[in-house]
Amino acid sequence: MSVPIPQPPTIPFIGNVTSVEKEVPLRSFRLLAKTYGEIFQLNMLGQTVLFVSLHKLVNEISDDSRFHKRAAGALREVRNLVGDALFTAEDDEPNWGIAHRLLMPAFGTLAVKDMMEEMRDISNQLLQKWERFGPNAIIDPSDDFTRVALDTIAYCSMSHRLNSFYSEPQPEFAVAMADFLKECSERFTRPRLLQAMMYGKTAKYQADIKKMKDLADEIVATRKAHPIPKHDLLDIMLNSRDPKTGQSMTEQSIAENMRLLTFLIVGHETSSGMMSFMVYFLIKNPQTMRKLRAQIDEVLGSRPVQYEDFANLPYLIAVMRETLRLAPTAPIRQTAALEDTTIGGGKYAIKKGTPILIVKWELHRDPAVWGDNAEEFIPERMLDGKFEALPPNAWQPFGFGRRACIGRAFAWQEVCLVIASVIQRFDLAFVDPSYNLQIKQTLTVKPNDLLIQATLRAGAV
Ligand code: HEM
Repeated sequence: MSVPIPQPPTIPFIGNVTSVEKEVPLRSFRLLAKTYGEIFQLNMLGQTVLFVSLHKLVNEISDDSRFHKRAAGALREVRNLVGDALFTAEDDEPNWGIAHRLLMPAFGTLAVKDMMEEMRDISNQLLQKWERFGPNAIIDPSDDFTRVALDTIAYCSMSHRLNSFYSEPQPEFAVAMADFLKECSERFTRPRLLQAMMYGKTAKYQADIKKMKDLADEIVATRKAHPIPKHDLLDIMLNSRDPKTGQSMTEQSIAENMRLLTFLIVGHETSSGMMSFMVYFLIKNPQTMRKLRAQIDEVLGSRPVQYEDFANLPYLIAVMRETLRLAPTAPIRQTAALEDTTIGGGKYAIKKGTPILIVKWELHRDPAVWGDNAEEFIPERMLDGKFEALPPNAWQPFGFGRRACIGRAFAWQEVCLVIASVIQRFDLAFVDPSYNLQIKQTLTVKPNDLLIQATLRAGAV
């Protein structure tokens, strides 16, 4: 016999919209999860949305045979830019399958290993900037890591230089993208009538979409006009056929995957956020910083990091895993039941298609998995086989199953390279020594108002 799913009190017509703060909805979801427990529901303008946050239930619904991804809410708004590209496609849309099969191998570990020198080219631009600006410069790490991540994905996958380090402030299209993502997160919580009257916001939203479309179209047009002998991601999209169906990607699907800049959106926000959180946790935990620095110095000395070094930097990997545990930059995952069903041993009835949001910031702090010190940053919990021994689906920063991240190896290599190089060369400090983590949220999350200074270490070359 199922029991009712807890829900905060509702207001006529708008339901629970006021239970969710606009700036950082994640904060409300976490608070509600603490108040109502492992599952709760909200009525968002007439649509029931379920929230699940503890491991036991998340593990149960991490099952591709019973549940599948749903592109509802803010993701539906992102489709205004990218249609049924990877990431925003519904599971059964044929373009997803074709693009997935064609592009998965392009992001495999071996393919990504070959991108190491291109990644270094971009990462060096960050190192040079911090070195040349000197120890008194005030650095917004989220800004500079966004430049690294944007330029890296564009250069490695499309052989296109965005040259973000030569633009101050951020390049126009990067600002358009950030504003677009923010607006997507807000639009789906606005009543339709209100939305229809927000002419200014809508005009800006359309203008931002156009800027991104224009840039992506320009990259494709340039490649078509000037082909290069390189089998990169763009070449695969333009010239390869799906091994299963024999079909090529349609012009529209290429345009959407490019134009929407799927890769630039999913491929930069998450990794740049991850690097920013890493810097925060490392400065906040000087002992961890010292331990990481000692390992990097021992393995690398003063020479540049190579791909082969990553296997000898287990503490760096542990810091990365622990960062993504406490601060999964893609904070929510959406799924839905394929049929009417129950979860929790028959306790909760779930209707087919009802959006279920998995709140990873709570999942990753479930004391049943992580213990009483779940709130603390302790990379040691990811070392010496402990990570491998975690219960299934306790750590999901890269999503789950067939719709999990295909850029994981890419992101891992990029972050290893950038952070190892930064820690090798610079002493880092908060501008405000009393800074405590605050977050900002669009589709992803990043530290808010985090400012640092970077001093070149004696002897660094
Ligand atoms: C999907 C996280 C970096 C490409 C996802 C998903 C997550 C995720 C959680 C699943 C989203 C969902 O369930 O709705 C991350 C994190 C990253 C990262 C934490 C870095 C730290 C990247 C990079 C790329 C990339 C660098 C591209 C090179 C993709 C794509 C998908 C995806 C294409 C959609 C897959 C599909 O639906 O078929 N990512 N990602 N990601 N990611 Fe990543």
